[in-house]
Amino acid sequence: MKVSKAISERRSVRKFKSDPVSEEDLNKILEAARWAPSAGNAQPVELVVLKEKDQKEELVKASLGQAFLAEAPIDIVVCANVPRTKKRYGERGSEMYVYHDTAAAAQNIHLMALALGYGTCWVGAFDDEAVEEVINAPDNIEPHVIIPVGKPAESPNPPRKRSLDEIVHEDGF
Ligand SMILES: Cc1cc2nc3c(=O)[nH]c(=O)nc-3n(C[C@H](O)[C@H](O)[C@H](O)COP(=O)(O)O)c2cc1C
Repeated sequence: MKVSKAISERRSVRKFKSDPVSEEDLNKILEAARWAPSAGNAQPVELVVLKEKDQKEELVKASLGQAFLAEAPIDIVVCANVPRTKKRYGERGSEMYVYHDTAAAAQNIHLMALALGYGTCWVGAFDDEAVEEVINAPDNIEPHVIIPVGKPAESPNPPRKRSLDEIVHEDGF
């Protein structure tokens, strides 16, 4: 699939079939995250793959009841290993770059999953501490994004996006 097609056809999918994600496909999806850019190539991204029903149910509770996290066959928790970036960039690293890095990895996951025929959704509304508990995170790890991955059971219409006229500012604001 062409990158341009993946970018324009990606939608947030919140209904999933129970079909599994093959190990081969999962590996390609995780590899896509590995190749994302990161500040200074510090590579703070760590990925937790959850498949067990009990753990997925705990994620639902940790994310204000977003039940589709338990419907999807897998959830990927995209985390930042903050000290990897902080030791080089200080506060700018821990307060900004690590979020850029996990976001870049997350977007790669969405696009690769789509190219392989899976649906995904970016989930950022969750209780940090509750998610840390589910994934047994050590102190240096922050969960930033949860991504359910599975065969889509819905085809959402494109949401309205602001036009280029609205968001592009030639020669500054
Ligand atoms: C930072 C961020 C946090 C988000 N958190 C959630 C979430 O917790 N639950 C959810 O259902 N969707 C969440 N979304 C998905 C957005 O609602 C979705 O991207 C937006 O409505 C546009 O739709 P599209 O992804 O189909 O283009 C989040 C997206 C981003 C970028």
